[in-house]
Order: sequence, then structure tokens, then C-alpha cells
Amino acid sequence: MKQSTDFLKMKKDNEKIVMLTAYDYPSAKQAEQAGVDVILVGDSLGMVVLGYDSTVPVTLEDMIHHAKAVKRGAKETYIVVDMPFLTYHLSIRDTLLNAGRLIQETGAHAVKLEGADEVLEQISALTKAGIPVCGHLGLTPQSVGVLGGYKVQGKEAKDAIKLLEDAKKCEEAGAFALVLECVPKQLADEVSKNVSIPVIGIGAGVDVDGQVLVYHDILGYGVERVPKFVKQYYSLNPFIVESIQAYVKEVKMEQFPDDKHSFTMKERELSGLYG
Ligand code: KIV
Ligand code: NA
Repeated sequence: MKQSTDFLKMKKDNEKIVMLTAYDYPSAKQAEQAGVDVILVGDSLGMVVLGYDSTVPVTLEDMIHHAKAVKRGAKETYIVVDMPFLTYHLSIRDTLLNAGRLIQETGAHAVKLEGADEVLEQISALTKAGIPVCGHLGLTPQSVGVLGGYKVQGKEAKDAIKLLEDAKKCEEAGAFALVLECVPKQLADEVSKNVSIPVIGIGAGVDVDGQVLVYHDILGYGVERVPKFVKQYYSLNPFIVESIQAYVKEVKMEQFPDDKHSFTMKERELSGLYG
């Protein structure tokens, strides 16, 4: 089982960190079996498995519910849980209590939160309280209402400079890692070079310290459209729908269940049954 400090070492050793989201028991088990370094219980679960159109409606209870299932499926893997919308903005005290619940009630190892300026104090307080924090900069989906949509961040020099400064501030505040979402690859490279903590990219090119993607996106499972930066390693959807269609048809036509999938009584007991 890795520790938060191991990721620092992986960066130093130039060993790429592989992060994948998981939201339930089977996906967590598969991720662990496949050897991912970190599982992220992302609030993307709001869109991917709960069917919301953003991460904003996701609650602390939702995250706890899913993180518990993930932990049961991946007992030997480092688990980071997203702090959902508005659970780390009101006060330091609320932030600590909420993060405390995410860690204590689920058995996850660290929390992730979005942004810099307004949450640096929180990153510092959580770290001091013993809760490892992963930062998240670039495209921060909980702020989609303010950012005006899901688009590439830091394309202009002034935004790029701000992002570089924010990354450094997150490190100074105590973050053990940083997720960098949807930024030009040159900027991501620069960020990675300017901080000593590992930078885990998503839509941030190859010159970062690791990658993170969403489970359902890489498997083509339940998702219809995926962003440019997603590589689909499989397309599960058609197989799932075809299998369910076959089930529907067989039930309608009384082809299922056949004898192979049914229980039978002995002749002797049968005569008793019929009297
Ligand atoms: O919620 C999530 O899945 C994330 C990753 C995309 C980084 O935050
Ligand atoms: Na997230």
C-alpha cells in the first residue's frame, strides 16, 4: 500500500503515477487488480453514475456512500476522495469536519479539492490536521458556472502565469499532489517542473508526473460523448446493450430459463406433489 509521500518519490524517480476513478465495489476491485497506483473517488460520479449534468449537485453523503463501496473493493490501494461542491468553502471548521467524515467513515486516505486562492488556508489546515490533500487546478468543474463551460484553461500568458503561481501556492500550503485538468501541454510541463509535488494530468499532455482518467470514459461504459483528451480503451456499451437485448428476447420467447438454469424435483417427490 502506497503512502502520500511515495508519490513524491515516484516523481523524483520519474515513475509515472496512474490514477483512475472508481465509484463502486466492482470498479474499485478491477482498478486494484489492474495495478493502478491511486483510485480517485471523483465527484464526476455525479455525472457518470448519478446522471446529473454537472458535479454541483453531489453531496457529502453521496461521496461517503460511494467511497465506502470503493474501499471495500480496493483495500490495498491508495484512495483519494473528492470534497464535493461547497463542503470546503464556508469555514475551516466545516472543512475539517467534512474532510474528517470523508476519511473516517470511508477509510479513504486523502481528499481532493478544487482551486487555490480561496482554499489555500483549508489545504494548510487539513494537512496540519493530518489529512493529506490533493489540489486540483486548471479546469475546475465545480466552478463551471463561473468559468462559462468546460474549456481549456491557461491558454493566455496571464492565465498561465496565474496557474503556475497557484500550483506553487498549493504546494506551499501542503498539498501532496496536484491534479491539473484541461490545460495546454506546454503549460502543464512548466507547472510540473516548477513544483516538487507530483502533477497528475487530465487533458494536460504527457509531460506531467502522472495521468488520471474516468473509469467509464476509458471503457466506453454508459457515456455517450467523451472529451478530446480521453482515450477509450474499449467500447463496452454495445456489448452491454446487446446482452440485455438477448435477455429480453429470451424471456419473451420462453427460451430463458432453460433446464440448465432451473431446479428440478425428483420423480418420487413429484408424485407426492401432485397427490
Ligand atoms: O471527479 C473527477 O473524476 C476528477 C478527475 C477528472 C480529476 O476530479
Ligand atoms: Na472531481
